[in-house]
Amino acid sequence: MIEAKDVSLKYPDGTLALNNVNISINKGELVYITGPSGSGKTSFLKLIMGIEYPTSGSLRVLGQNIEQKEESQIRKMRRSIGPVFQEFRLIKGRTALENVIDGLRIIGFSPRRLKEEAELALDKVGLKHKAKSLVENLSWGEAQRVSIARAVARKPSLILADEPTGNLDYENAVKILNLLASFRNENTAVVITTHATHLIEGFKDATFLRVASGIITKDGGERL
Ligand SMILES: Nc1ncnc2c1ncn2[C@@H]1O[C@H](COP(=O)(O)OP(=O)(O)O)[C@@H](O)[C@H]1O
Ligand SMILES: [Mg+2]
Repeated sequence: MIEAKDVSLKYPDGTLALNNVNISINKGELVYITGPSGSGKTSFLKLIMGIEYPTSGSLRVLGQNIEQKEESQIRKMRRSIGPVFQEFRLIKGRTALENVIDGLRIIGFSPRRLKEEAELALDKVGLKHKAKSLVENLSWGEAQRVSIARAVARKPSLILADEPTGNLDYENAVKILNLLASFRNENTAVVITTHATHLIEGFKDATFLRVASGIITKDGGERL
């Protein structure tokens, strides 16, 4: 579902954020991407979402070529991706439930199913009791769960979570990683970035990738 061949991303200022990456990620796979701050983790997720385009190489995501001239197709493809952004991107002045509903509405869910699916998603992240709270009144961890509910409500083929463990203490960070991993199934792949390598030690049944200065390696050190 993700096929990167010799993909590089160079920003206009000359920063080489990803350097000749060759990766394939399969349907239903769980992938952890670790690497220090500034190594290229977010850039990789941006490429997968078609927010940035490769400056060289070819990238296919969910059957779609990620290149500038495919912009309108990429927009459609994004409906099958559930993104959990580092900064959540929730809409202030709206409740938790409304935020999840809005996330479904913009991808064209039938009005009849909006509320029901949004409530179900909030329940899955353990936040049913906060459905009517304004998002600005939620704690950081609660807002994050709303953002996860919004991502999973659309039943995406691919969930992308960027540094979901950001501000959390060890115990809550592990809980969030487990929650995200729980949405992985045969139809849904989950890709999670984190700079906190120690948090994912001991996790099993997953693919571990490491990024350093734009170069991605497998767990064993083999360059991809
Ligand atoms: N829009 C941009 N323009 C120029 N450089 C950028 C941009 N976004 C990120 N970078 C640079 O690309 C490199 C990788 O950044 P990023 O992918 O955000 O790393 P990470 O998510 O691992 O912290 C860093 O050197 C960063 O400063
Ligand atoms: Mg980042």
